[in-house]
Amino acid sequence: MAEHDKQRHGLARGLTNYGDADFSLYLRRSFAKSMGYSAEMLARPIVGIAQSASGFNNCHRHFPELVAAVKRGVIAAGGLPLDFPTVSLGEVFLHPTSMMFRNLMAMDVEEMIRAQPMDAVVLIGACDKTVPALLMGATSADLPAVVLIGGPMLPMAHHGERLGACTDCRRFWAKYRAGEISARDIADIEGNLAATTGSCAVMGTASTMASIAEALGMTLPGTAAIPAVHADRLRAAEASGRRAVELVGTALRPSRIVTARSIENALRVLLAIGGSTNGLIHLTAIAGRAGVAVSLKRLNELSDATPILVDLKPTGQHYMSDLFAAGGIGAVLRELKPLLHLDCMTVTGETLGERLAGAAPWVDRDVVRPLAEPYQKQGGLAALSGSLAPNGAIIKRSAADPRLFEREGRAVVFASLDDLAARIDAPDLDVTADDFLVLQNAGPKSGYAMPEAGYLPIPAKLARAGVKDMVRISDARMSGTAYGTIVLHVSPEAAIGGPLALVRSGDRIKLSVARRRLDLLVDDAELVKRRAAHRPFAATPARGYARLYMQSVLQAELGCDFDFLRKA
Ligand code: FES
Repeated sequence: MAEHDKQRHGLARGLTNYGDADFSLYLRRSFAKSMGYSAEMLARPIVGIAQSASGFNNCHRHFPELVAAVKRGVIAAGGLPLDFPTVSLGEVFLHPTSMMFRNLMAMDVEEMIRAQPMDAVVLIGACDKTVPALLMGATSADLPAVVLIGGPMLPMAHHGERLGACTDCRRFWAKYRAGEISARDIADIEGNLAATTGSCAVMGTASTMASIAEALGMTLPGTAAIPAVHADRLRAAEASGRRAVELVGTALRPSRIVTARSIENALRVLLAIGGSTNGLIHLTAIAGRAGVAVSLKRLNELSDATPILVDLKPTGQHYMSDLFAAGGIGAVLRELKPLLHLDCMTVTGETLGERLAGAAPWVDRDVVRPLAEPYQKQGGLAALSGSLAPNGAIIKRSAADPRLFEREGRAVVFASLDDLAARIDAPDLDVTADDFLVLQNAGPKSGYAMPEAGYLPIPAKLARAGVKDMVRISDARMSGTAYGTIVLHVSPEAAIGGPLALVRSGDRIKLSVARRRLDLLVDDAELVKRRAAHRPFAATPARGYARLYMQSVLQAELGCDFDFLRKA
């Protein structure tokens, strides 16, 4: 945007170029009046409302009501609210994976904030990729912004136990695969896993990103965990609208809030809540938009010194609505206070330290443990490196079986997702419970766009024999709601010739979580031979977004952002 446009406000910002600025403004006012606005309303500061309701996004079903509440707040504070649609990413409705389109949504958000005349923006998101895309776009656009989280679903009682998407989705599917429950049971469960609007009810990626948005200071305090259907969610929307008007014309833009120090705070929270592995990729991408690097070495240092305080599925017992009732992310931040950078600015205009000052409200200690008596002594994530993952890999140790942490095993390799689907349940598959399942070619440039396929199913014959967990290694991602001894995000990925591409069934692999190592025990001469024979796995598509994605997507340790979108 030209400098003179930044000086303007409201409808006069970023005029359409007809070669006559006064004509452009007159024309814009005229067309805006066709929507029935009075001259008085059109003279107000404008708050854009980025909203992503869609018939293909169950998690955002309630967004029209949230938009109405944001508008109420904006009007009450003297602004003019104008909502606009963005790309919507409904996690389970997208092919090949929502991850492929996160950057598209981030570009849409950034460009529409820039291109349209608004003085501040409220960004509404809930489902997995939407909150990271909003934060990435808003950080790059750098207009005063408030993130409004859509909120989690409520769990539903079913046959005497509470069910909530999506840890329970996987738990019951595993039981069905093992023959422990019938087709009728699983059909019954299917109708009760996602019973309300909102994002998945556990500490999956959506809840992780909501928590990270609050930890960064980009939401109003105490709003990340409010259930989607709770009336407080509407009050949070109204307050977010009000706050956006107050931000108009101030220097309190994302660039003052999303900083190296607030990103480190967010990493602490990611670890303390036992957050999703995807959260690390997204936070790395958001940090990249602010010119901040997230190093896996630093992640390990923080993880070793940040206990898990929150007892939520998939690592614990409770649901997001329990976290809300227990005190929310504020309760977690209060416990972490000695470890946090308290001088970080938040969207309220207070520092984090000011937010956390004063008497602590009541906290349910079944859900949020004190720092001195944590749920687990170390953070949930560990970064690995070694000859199989020179640029890194991730394991969610809090959701894994520690008995499998120090192991050497025989590789059973699947060359692609199609190969996995074709052979994993074959009765003649040569596999034992001590083997390491290896999936190749499921990374960012594989053509599958790094799906959540890292939770490789236990081969049916082993599942029926009672095997619950095995070491599984891939360049894929894993749903934040999954669990198991699963090594993910191996980089460089197989599709571009990373060492993962060179593994063959029968090779030995050594995993040591204690030493943060992942090594392929094959001699160099053999690897040189295999490398010489390697061919790229996926061709670059001829056109469209798929081509842009394939040409520009970065590896996991850089957040899978596009190379041209990171801040220099
Ligand atoms: Fe939207 Fe899980 S499907 S958060």
